[in-house]
Amino acid sequence: MTQTLTTLKLCEKSEVPEGEAIKVENGDLVLAVYNVEGLFYVTDDLCTHGPGSLAEGFLDGYVIECDFHGGCFDIRNGEVVAPPCMIPLRTYEVRPDDTHVVIAVSKD
Ligand code: FES
Repeated sequence: MTQTLTTLKLCEKSEVPEGEAIKVENGDLVLAVYNVEGLFYVTDDLCTHGPGSLAEGFLDGYVIECDFHGGCFDIRNGEVVAPPCMIPLRTYEVRPDDTHVVIAVSKD
């Protein structure tokens, strides 16, 4: 079966301050959009360990620290960097766009 990809325009790049993250909702998705030195990354906003919103966490380079229990993820690939998190975070492919943060998601 082939997957159909669809693109979603999440926000303007200018809405995400450098070195920070914002929460963006789009349909059923609740996402965190990060700006690291002008490059944008997108993950699920909900921490895989509990109710933490990662957009409200602390971004240090490519690592987001959840402000609930201090678990950390690499925003480039969703890998767990520090416990108590055990489950990787879902990440989204960011598509090139001059003005907006655009992601590709598979449509079932
Ligand atoms: S809810 Fe994020 S580390 Fe526990």
